[in-house]
Amino acid sequence: MLEIRAIHSYYGDSHVLQGVSLHIGEDESICLLGRNGAGKSTTMKSVMGFVPPREGTIRFRGEVISGLKPFEIVRRGIGYVPEDRRIFAELTVLENLEVAARKGGPGAGKWNLDAILEMFPLLTKLLKRQGGKLSGGEQQLLAIARALIGNPSLLLLDEPCEGLAPVIVEHLEEIILNLKREIPILIAEQNAHFALRVSDRGYVIEKGRIKHEGATADLRSNTEIQKRYLSV
Ligand SMILES: Nc1ncnc2c1ncn2[C@@H]1O[C@H](COP(=O)(O)OP(=O)(O)O)[C@@H](O)[C@H]1O
Ligand SMILES: [Mg+2]
Repeated sequence: MLEIRAIHSYYGDSHVLQGVSLHIGEDESICLLGRNGAGKSTTMKSVMGFVPPREGTIRFRGEVISGLKPFEIVRRGIGYVPEDRRIFAELTVLENLEVAARKGGPGAGKWNLDAILEMFPLLTKLLKRQGGKLSGGEQQLLAIARALIGNPSLLLLDEPCEGLAPVIVEHLEEIILNLKREIPILIAEQNAHFALRVSDRGYVIEKGRIKHEGATADLRSNTEIQKRYLSV
């Protein structure tokens, strides 16, 4: 599905990703774990074409996408929820969904408004509310729903738990567990407890390099890795 091979990404002269490789299969959900500043968001931005890697390649469904523009990458079927969510504050929830809707996208094409509201029932009573008037948790749900209604075939979620109260995180966990039956997901998280509960496999990144890769069960029981690389 997605293969990142030895990418090097920079902000100006600052060499942030130093040979990151990872892959996601058709039927799996992956997490990218690491502390603040480790390179998680830069990895996602590199996939999306916002920070194009200077070396290495990224393939999506067998085709090279590194070098394409973000809109082309979205069009090929990668849905992206950035860290700051980017909800349109002036638009209603319904309008936020409508602007992103795409019938017969590269994914299954099943995500119309009805399917979205079935997956995110909390949004139903909020359809007429302005995006800017939603709580943080509601905004996160809307951001994920908005990515999904474009009918992608892979979903990238950057720190979905950030700033959310524990009860909202629990709700989000339920949603992501349902969602991963429908679509492969790559989650970047500092919250390893959360990410390891909703993923099949995980990578640990530090200072722009992948330090460890393993099944979530192994990462969960590996206290050495947790102490060294994660804030748990
Ligand atoms: N726009 C930017 N310009 C310069 N440096 C940046 C920028 N964004 C992130 N960085 C730096 O790149 C490194 C990785 O950041 P990031 O990928 O955001 O980490 P994470 O998402 O894991 O917290 C950090 O050292 C950060 O300071
Ligand atoms: Mg980040």
